[in-house]
Amino acid sequence: MEKEISALKNAIKGAERVTVLTGAGISAESGVPTFRGEGGLWRNHDVMELATPYAFERDPELVWEFYNWRRDLISKLTFNPAHKALVDLERIKPSFTLISQNVDGLHLLAGSKNLLEIHGNLWKVRCTRCNEITLDLSPDMGPLPKCKTCGGLLRPHVVWFGESLDGELLNRAVDASKNCDIMLVIGTSSVVQPASSLAFQAKDGGAIVAEINLEATPNSQFMDFAFHGKAGEIVPRLLD
Ligand code: OAD
Repeated sequence: MEKEISALKNAIKGAERVTVLTGAGISAESGVPTFRGEGGLWRNHDVMELATPYAFERDPELVWEFYNWRRDLISKLTFNPAHKALVDLERIKPSFTLISQNVDGLHLLAGSKNLLEIHGNLWKVRCTRCNEITLDLSPDMGPLPKCKTCGGLLRPHVVWFGESLDGELLNRAVDASKNCDIMLVIGTSSVVQPASSLAFQAKDGGAIVAEINLEATPNSQFMDFAFHGKAGEIVPRLLD
């Protein structure tokens, strides 16, 4: 592993255009539950069944209870050495894009700038009637929060299963993936599209692709480097 770490470290050093894709695993050491595996249940509900437009239509109060629980939990947490290492990397690279599937806001809290939150952000809410998007940092929004402008029901400004990603954000993510010298894929199970295919776009564009994840993923075999371990330990070592 030492040899590979040092080889990837050199490749990162020589790269001008760096793109990073992150998933729930980068925030796991901060205490944010992941979606699959142990973190995937909330009061015996599969979290992926709550994160859908159908669940919200059926029982908005239950979905808001779940999101209020997540907001409260995350409001007490902070970024970890992996988030921080990416901020340091952005400072020294002429071209750097961070694409995150996470909605926890921890990359922003750490200080990342060129960030594409392709699945939205938990701290933003959107009106289901007038579509206005607002930032609201309260840990608990109450059972059925209402829009201050039109009184419509608010929902979390996150992408749920069965919904499309924001087209412009996705285009920018694809662009940053196709046009980079190196892509780091950190803490994602790589089973959710279209995020999972971004690594292939990078590889097709000639980039070196590297995965840092606790365990192997369906994409591991296509990677130039695949490190299995904790992001909070491996990422800072690659970038120090
Ligand atoms: P997952 O929960 O599917 O995967 C998290 C990955 O992180 C797993 O492969 C873990 O092995 C790995 N992991 C856990 N702890 C780690 C650590 N300390 N260091 C490194 N890796 C670690 O989360 P995502 O891949 O982000 O979408 O899931 C993708 C999307 O599916 C999410 O954005 C969400 C979800 O449904 C929406 O909500 C639209």
